[in-house]
Amino acid sequence: MFSHVAVLGAGQMGSGIAQVIAQKDISVQLVDLNEAALKKAQSKIKNSLEKLYKKKLITLTPDEVLQKIQFVSDINSIKQSELVIEAVPENQNLKSKVFKQISDTVSANTIIASNTSSISLTYLAENVSHPQRVAGLHFMNPVPLMTLVEIIRAEQTSDSVFEKLCQFTVFLDKTAVSSKDKPGFIVNRILMPMINEAVFALQESIASAEDIDKAMQLGCHHPMGPLALADLIGLDTCLSIMEVLEEGLGEKYKPCPLLKKYVAEGRLGKKTGKGFYTY
Ligand SMILES: NC(=O)c1ccc[n+]([C@@H]2O[C@H](COP(=O)([O-])OP(=O)(O)OC[C@H]3O[C@@H](n4cnc5c(N)ncnc54)[C@H](O)[C@@H]3O)[C@@H](O)[C@H]2O)c1
Repeated sequence: MFSHVAVLGAGQMGSGIAQVIAQKDISVQLVDLNEAALKKAQSKIKNSLEKLYKKKLITLTPDEVLQKIQFVSDINSIKQSELVIEAVPENQNLKSKVFKQISDTVSANTIIASNTSSISLTYLAENVSHPQRVAGLHFMNPVPLMTLVEIIRAEQTSDSVFEKLCQFTVFLDKTAVSSKDKPGFIVNRILMPMINEAVFALQESIASAEDIDKAMQLGCHHPMGPLALADLIGLDTCLSIMEVLEEGLGEKYKPCPLLKKYVAEGRLGKKTGKGFYTY
């Protein structure tokens, strides 16, 4: 298995991914340009580890796990990594730029994966040398608790890279499903239109946010309502995913104007303290 892994982007997904890898005693470098994001990631990981350790869900102590993670702002420190997982915001141009940077920094054997929710891996792979080492490794939020990982094969992905990522997923105690490289893959192809429709229901005043969520929780047995889930994911991320679905799959996936309005106002959900709910 890998002994050095780097994760780019220390937001809610990157921090969770770094944590679950370090829990398996693997050295992780968690990279973010923003020092405040690195600090926040460190305290979030510490809190999560303490809860998991108390419940006896992890064997290493929180300190032992934290010692496996290096919080860094310089991408040059990932040179040694055998696997790099990109988890920067859901923006095609930004991810392309970051993929190029990774390719210029690491060795030709390093596997380069993206945690993208919707963007084409085949497109991202065009930004790196040896594109057969690129694939999607899509963890779910919150990473320490959710057991699914979608593995997405780019057109260029080699069989051996795909196999290694499947084995790595199992090693992390997660379950892998494999998806073709189509917009939104499996989960977001189905989940995001439902969230978008819930926003339309709110926009059309069919019901309050609370009642829309309650209806889906009690009527469909969902663990949380679609609007609360959108707040957890981040409304900016939801909008970016809908835009990728609309561009790739057509009109039917048009983002709801209310979702666009909230994002334009900086109302991004839990991470900004206000979305469909106030936190
Ligand atoms: N939020 C979710 O529920 C969820 C679930 C699955 C997948 N994803 C995907 O994971 C990715 C990250 O989402 P998130 O919710 O963690 O975003 P986030 O906004 O919480 O974090 C992104 C982080 O990337 C950092 N960043 C920006 N540019 C960078 C660069 N060039 N180099 C290093 N770091 C950089 C930012 O400072 C920020 O800390 C996206 O592709 C998203 O679609 C999100």
